[in-house]
Amino acid sequence: MRSQNPRRLLIGGNWKMNLLSRQARDYCQAFVSGWEGFSTEVVLFVSSPLLPAVAESLASGPIGLGGQDLHPESKGAFTGDVSGPQLADAGCSWVLCGHSERRRDHGESDRLVGRKAAAAVSNSLTPLICVGETEEERERQETFSVLKRQLETALESRPEPFALAYEPVWAIGTGRSATPEMAQQAHQHLRETLADLLGDEAAATKRILYGGSANPENAAALISQPDIDGFLVGGASLDPERFLAMIRCCG
Ligand code: 13P
Repeated sequence: MRSQNPRRLLIGGNWKMNLLSRQARDYCQAFVSGWEGFSTEVVLFVSSPLLPAVAESLASGPIGLGGQDLHPESKGAFTGDVSGPQLADAGCSWVLCGHSERRRDHGESDRLVGRKAAAAVSNSLTPLICVGETEEERERQETFSVLKRQLETALESRPEPFALAYEPVWAIGTGRSATPEMAQQAHQHLRETLADLLGDEAAATKRILYGGSANPENAAALISQPDIDGFLVGGASLDPERFLAMIRCCG
């Protein structure tokens, strides 16, 4: 457990397109009964059809609820999309914006991610803005420039509040996590970019999570880095015991 970090640690469980409502209820029951009064902030990001079951199971507890995406408009003819007001109405206080699977599979641009972040805050949702380089970009030594571009564009509308997740695309679902040193370098670069955009004080308060094959085995080494303020967890968040073990690492 780390005590020096001045920011409250934050862990998101991104269930992606997994679980049915019965399984989600069972998960929440196991999760809540294993909860140990942690000081880390925890949010579950679940598919829209699961929101009612999860909201009911987590009601009035310390665990937050988030959507996995939202449309930049608040209503209208956008078949298959979900709006900020609908997420808020379903009990969400957070939403992911610009996850790499949305960028890859739905062609989401940096600019669209920025519009989504703005829509989130105007509906009282905190956007967890995801950035990260592909393997090819890393090999071409473009990691820092890609992160800077993604971040600058996402923050054009100056959303507030927000949190960031650094998720190197090559580490997602591959079992190949970034090393603590690689992750720290990227997080430090993101914090310096935040300082350029928003000032030193704001940059010092913003939480930057690491995501990409984070698990109970590598969590302690990653969280000991000074600019890593928590995790955005995919696969390991689907097992309540493994997810709790990661939260325990953060305290
Ligand atoms: P994994 O933890 O399964 O690599 O997924 C990371 C992720 O994409 C979280 O948003």
